[in-house]
Amino acid sequence: MATSILAPPPEGSGLKPVRGQPGIPFIGNTLQVMRQPFKVARKRYEQFGPVTWGWLLGQRTVTVQGPEAAETVLVNRDKAFANGPAWSYFIGPFFHRGIMLLDFEEHLHHRRIMQQAFTQQRLRSYMDAMAPGIKDGVRAWEPGHGFKVYDHVKQLTLDLATDVFMGVELERSEADRINGAFIDAVRAGTAYVRFPVPGLRWHKGVQARKALEEFFRGHLPAKRRDGGDDLFAALCQAETDDGHRFTDEDVVNHMIFALMAAHDTTTITLTTMAYYLAKYPEWQERLRDESLALGKPALEFEDLDRLPSADLVMKEALRLLAPVPALPRRVVKDTSILGYHIPAGTLVVVPQLTNHHMPEYWPDPERFDPERFAPERREDKVHKYAWSPFGGGAHKCIGLHFAGMQVKSIMHQILLHHRWSVPGRYEWPLDTTSLPSPRDGLPVRLDRLEHS
Ligand code: HEM
Repeated sequence: MATSILAPPPEGSGLKPVRGQPGIPFIGNTLQVMRQPFKVARKRYEQFGPVTWGWLLGQRTVTVQGPEAAETVLVNRDKAFANGPAWSYFIGPFFHRGIMLLDFEEHLHHRRIMQQAFTQQRLRSYMDAMAPGIKDGVRAWEPGHGFKVYDHVKQLTLDLATDVFMGVELERSEADRINGAFIDAVRAGTAYVRFPVPGLRWHKGVQARKALEEFFRGHLPAKRRDGGDDLFAALCQAETDDGHRFTDEDVVNHMIFALMAAHDTTTITLTTMAYYLAKYPEWQERLRDESLALGKPALEFEDLDRLPSADLVMKEALRLLAPVPALPRRVVKDTSILGYHIPAGTLVVVPQLTNHHMPEYWPDPERFDPERFAPERREDKVHKYAWSPFGGGAHKCIGLHFAGMQVKSIMHQILLHHRWSVPGRYEWPLDTTSLPSPRDGLPVRLDRLEHS
């Protein structure tokens, strides 16, 4: 395949051109990158170094590998990288005006207000609100062979979303309709056909967005009036010290985005943990012993720091399979990354998924080894951005503590009530064409524990 440069650097700048094997214009290496991200990333790194370019989903895309490049882009000191024009290309029609799609001053303004919905006090009440749903949901899991972990966890996190995020009592059919709309809106982002053809992903995404807007607008007046312990009420009430609040449209846009940001990511984290805990039963027992030792039917906020092994496994799961596989940014003025010239207009991608597997930073990177995060090893300390599943800089995940809370609360319940296993040689078939997930839903043998 032919090698070419993205753009010649300005004369006398001392910058290097970005090289790559872009492939056929617009199509390029899209299919290979989506199907075999680890192999493609490694090959590019070995051939061209950390900064390289190619066509991806119709865009001239620069991929920057490794934590140093990630830091330059995410910390964004000279405000050269924008979120809105990058993310909008993928998910704009379905998640427009979500906070992740806002930039600079406007983003900061919204973030300050949104922060009020994620204070410790708020988190405590979300955790209390989640507890009964988690307990009932996990207890209801029917033991047997071929129990699909991913599908069940996804259903549970979606159901929790209606409780904890929306705080509205919904009939089963209505909850399913809203959950279905979310699934369609998320899927639409990675559609190959990127305009509305009835029956295809993009069109379904547009319809789903309409349904979600109507749903939230319909419930908004009552939320404003009655308040509550849920995220919807918190966004309605959020106010900065200097009196800034969200408009009705802001609340609708942020709710739609937050639900999306929250449920798939925690589902993937829990499924990855379940996969490795099935493959490494000694770790499953270690986590179960820890949960049993707490002696509580449901976790409380204070217990979150009392599960050190669950913490290690969660971190290792987020390393091995970053739920948000790549962070795109649009370059809004000529800039440079690690001495490479990056012209305005370029799409830059920080590939979280593959960065976490670089042997330069992670010894034996494919090995499941939660102890690498233990205090005496802390392999993640090699660089501030070596482990960054929650991103970094101004857009760093606002829900990261919420995520830890939800993942640990659900895992605690699963460990207390069930044991699960996979056949010795089972390897999950990963689908990386959208947010990563097991193509087979991760079928396990699920047994109910006697004391349960
Ligand atoms: C393990 C679970 C999660 C992971 C791995 C994750 C990952 C991320 C990442 C990588 C970003 C940065 C995107 C970027 O820089 O372009 C982000 C942003 C965000 N996340 Fe999460 N997330 C998780 C859970 C959650 C939860 C539970 C919530 C809400 C309760 C949430 C809400 C958000 C929001 C609102 C943003 C946008 C922040 C901004 O732009 O200022 N996330 N998340």
